[in-house]
Amino acid sequence: MCGIVGYIGDKNAQNFLISGLKRLEYRGYDSAGIVTLDDSGKATLLRAKGKIANLEEKLAKAKREDHIGIGHTRWATHGEPSETNAHPHQAGPIYVVHNGIIENYKELKAELTDFEFKSETDSEVLAALINSFYQDGKYPLANAVVQALKLVKGTYGIAVVSELAPEEMVVARSGSPLVIGVGHDETLVASDASALLGHTKRAIYLNDGEVAVIGKNSVEIKTLNAEPVSAKVEEIETNLAAIQKGGYDHFLLKEIMEQPESLKETLRGRVNAEEGTVHLGGPGLSEAELRKIRHLVIVGCGTAYHAGLLASYYIERFTPEVTVEVVIASEYRYRSAYIPEDSVALIVSQSGETADTLACLREIKKQGVRTVGIVNAIGSTIAREVDGGTYVHVGPEISVASTKAFTSQVIAMVMFGLTIAQAKGVKSAVLGPYVKEIAALPEAIRMVLDVVPKEVQKIAKKYAKYEHAIYLGRDTAYPTAMEGALKLKEVSYVDANAYAFGELKHGPLALVDDRFFEMVLLPAGVLYDKAVSNIQEVLARGGHVVVVTNADGFDLPVESVIRLGGEIEIFAPLLMNLVSQLFAYYVTVAKGLNVDQPRNLAKSVTVE
Ligand code: M6R
Repeated sequence: MCGIVGYIGDKNAQNFLISGLKRLEYRGYDSAGIVTLDDSGKATLLRAKGKIANLEEKLAKAKREDHIGIGHTRWATHGEPSETNAHPHQAGPIYVVHNGIIENYKELKAELTDFEFKSETDSEVLAALINSFYQDGKYPLANAVVQALKLVKGTYGIAVVSELAPEEMVVARSGSPLVIGVGHDETLVASDASALLGHTKRAIYLNDGEVAVIGKNSVEIKTLNAEPVSAKVEEIETNLAAIQKGGYDHFLLKEIMEQPESLKETLRGRVNAEEGTVHLGGPGLSEAELRKIRHLVIVGCGTAYHAGLLASYYIERFTPEVTVEVVIASEYRYRSAYIPEDSVALIVSQSGETADTLACLREIKKQGVRTVGIVNAIGSTIAREVDGGTYVHVGPEISVASTKAFTSQVIAMVMFGLTIAQAKGVKSAVLGPYVKEIAALPEAIRMVLDVVPKEVQKIAKKYAKYEHAIYLGRDTAYPTAMEGALKLKEVSYVDANAYAFGELKHGPLALVDDRFFEMVLLPAGVLYDKAVSNIQEVLARGGHVVVVTNADGFDLPVESVIRLGGEIEIFAPLLMNLVSQLFAYYVTVAKGLNVDQPRNLAKSVTVE
């Protein structure tokens, strides 16, 4: 949510800021801005509503050879997307870019009576506050920043420069990520390490409550209470190819098509198909601790929540005496839920930065419950704060709609369940089929992705005219239907909702008419016959039914059928979800919408 970049060094700051912002544009894309300072401190501030391309147009007329600067791409929280509300915000000689939310900004604003506010943002309050402590350079910039931050309630990742000190930058974080890239005669800043690739692979991940004063060859970190922190330089694992489209028109399609490989990365070294066992080292639980587990809480938002729901259906099938509860983080963080003894909480997040999920993690830890991360982004806040974890290792997911992360999150959680079951002595006759299918899944996914895209594209074109869709499934196909509906609504703006098929006649069946189509996920096996009867009920009411199935015998006269072959049975819903992902993609392309950056959304939701 919003992207921050900063540069100080020998090279052209504007160039890095723009290229860095482009990398981060998927995080927020309402407006953008940069400010650079020349050696005397003279500032060049450029801001534009909309995409970075608009900012580039302004930059073409304002090229500078400055060597320090900060930039921001915004996802609006306070105040509409506009040039005035775009960052950097200025107060006297101070310029600030900010990610997060200043919750007490109204109270702070009321105190800053001397300052003439121009924007509606909470971030401008921060700039004014810092400036009030700075007093035209009477005090060091870092001191002014610290004084201001001590008064702030909320979350922030910030970068600050001053016209009076063009040789340094101050950055700080609390609840919003900030990475410092250590280069040769240059230091870079970003809210996401991907912006640093191609410049340096050496990064310092700032922790909450830390402030850093940065020069072109120096990084000095302290806590807000002035305690020195020794910087830990880590290697950035991602490479440039992973954040480029690689010949695809859109990241969404690239990421869907990457799933055979990304799932292989999730499984690497963790699955022994011959023995029918899995091994996860990351959670850090001993056999005795695993045996004691009686309750799992799975916490996530959006797609991560759906992944948890789907995994829970599997885990409870083979893990005796363990209850599984799947919760939406934004709700759970404010509930007074009792977590029984002998529980483990799985904290699921692609980005590892989702504010609600992070808040749940912290609440759960307060109760003394062991937390295990199911995270993709390496070194992210959630990954660092959980007691143990399993990285899903799918590589960067750039498109706002989550795809490859979902598949791997489900399997990573199922593997965690299998680890518990193994420790509890569940027989390999029970667990073996799961392990065998998990090992076979990457290839099965490849086969589906080799065959279905053209057919799905054709069907998607036919249904792109609908404004309403109902996704339906039973058992494991139900959470999969929820995920399919989320995908369609978020990228194509079709009003798509999922229902447990058995629930249809308890209300939603009333919706069925020519404005809707019904997307049914129909795995062979569990509850197949019952779902077929449910389809009959929809057909009897004139429904426009599309069925995705791996059942050979399916022969109802529905409008469209997408058939999946292959050996996969248990995890067939994951293959059906590929169809849902492709369907959402092709409907969106047919409607000519922005596939990777749907309106109103951002990739990583670091505000509440
Ligand atoms: O980074 P996270 O996995 O914590 O993100 C959670 C949700 O914000 C995310 O899955 C969101 O729902 C996606 N845009 C869905 O495609």
